[in-house]
Amino acid sequence: MSTLPKSVLIVGSGGREHTLARSLAQSPAKPRLLCAPGNAGIAADAKCFPVPVEDITGLVALAQREKIEFVVVGPEVPLSLGLVDALNKAGIPAYGPKADGARLEASKIFTKQILLKHKIPTAAAGIFHEVDPAIDYVRRRGAPIVIKADGLAAGKGVVVAQTLKEAEAAIRDMLAGNKFGSAGSQILIEDCLLGEETSLLVVVSGRDYVILPTSQDHKRIGDGDTGPNTGGMGTYSPAEVVTPALLARIEREIVQPSVAAIASEGIEFRGTLFIGIMLTASGPSVLEYNTRFGDPETQVVLPRLKTDLLALLWAAAHGELQGVKLEVKPDYALCVVVAAQGYPDSCAKGDVITLPAPSSLLPAVTIYHAGTARNAAGQLTANGGRVLGVTALAPTLPEAARRAYAACEQIQWTKKYFRRDIGAKQLNRK
Ligand code: AMP
Ligand code: GLY
Repeated sequence: MSTLPKSVLIVGSGGREHTLARSLAQSPAKPRLLCAPGNAGIAADAKCFPVPVEDITGLVALAQREKIEFVVVGPEVPLSLGLVDALNKAGIPAYGPKADGARLEASKIFTKQILLKHKIPTAAAGIFHEVDPAIDYVRRRGAPIVIKADGLAAGKGVVVAQTLKEAEAAIRDMLAGNKFGSAGSQILIEDCLLGEETSLLVVVSGRDYVILPTSQDHKRIGDGDTGPNTGGMGTYSPAEVVTPALLARIEREIVQPSVAAIASEGIEFRGTLFIGIMLTASGPSVLEYNTRFGDPETQVVLPRLKTDLLALLWAAAHGELQGVKLEVKPDYALCVVVAAQGYPDSCAKGDVITLPAPSSLLPAVTIYHAGTARNAAGQLTANGGRVLGVTALAPTLPEAARRAYAACEQIQWTKKYFRRDIGAKQLNRK
């Protein structure tokens, strides 16, 4: 493989990007790490520059000015705005799909059409841009039914409607009420699938791919999967609901055909294909594709890799993934997201947070930063909804949970909120 890069720019500012920074810093190649825009935690691992992720021209200029040899893109928005296209044009290699590949996340209708055309298991669906035909359709199909805004809506564009009334309100909000702007001017209405969810992160390079360790997210805000959907409140890995036999089936029925379908549509995809899967009674079924690492899936998947992350992503970006084998630690990983009270609605910023000293943490615990900043006095402050991600590794899942939760208790912040039951589904199955 070509020589590994000596300088890497990470784009983004969340817990996912902090985890990427930590994992890339462990590469034997010891790259110089930069991040835009980063956060208060990433600033300890990488030099941060205040360029917003939507500023494609500014990010390319930064990469050129700093003589960056490789860019790793975290979030979906710069991908869908063509950041990787622009970097490649400037001769800078990057990990992440170009805008054509990012459409697999940016348009749920585009993805549904590919899934149906290539006979990849997914819920039956209809596409609508007018209220009346959409309402006729849900009345014919009945509830529960799922209404999805076509475009990017920061994880809020999906309504799992339990009643026809809820479904009709969601249709009106999106198509007539302009709730998600142009992202909701077309909608997908699909059958409701029942089962347990799992997310699979796949590093893809054209027709080659490497499946990363399995994980499971907790999307609802409240214990016992109650309350509104969030970006993700915690994760664990491996997700043992995905047995080796089930993983082989998912690879055969979903991963291989998805990678082949994307390539045959003329998309040269080099990046992470995140496949959201519902494990239904009749088999695994695709809920969605994302075209980036998951957050907080990354916080449990990357710390379990023995393989050099930099070498893996560099190989994928250069079409050199064929034959790459992944080495994974036997440990379990569990991440608890510490959010600000009020999340996923608006929450106060600026509260001072005191983190425990690293020496007082139980073994193998890492506190990743997401929405953090520093105030004028240099104190750590809350600066977003999801603020920290506490990951612990351990030989068993209960021990990983014990270590992570001990650290959550040690964090001094009166307005912290976290779920108390991350990993409970797997722990209770035993
Ligand atoms: P998506 O962004 O498409 O993954 O949807 C967000 C969440 O909505 C998923 O993680 C599921 O919990 C739920 N969801 C999406 N599609 C369906 C479906 N067809 N049936 C049941 N739940 C769904
Ligand atoms: N944790 C779900 C996501 O990253 O979309």
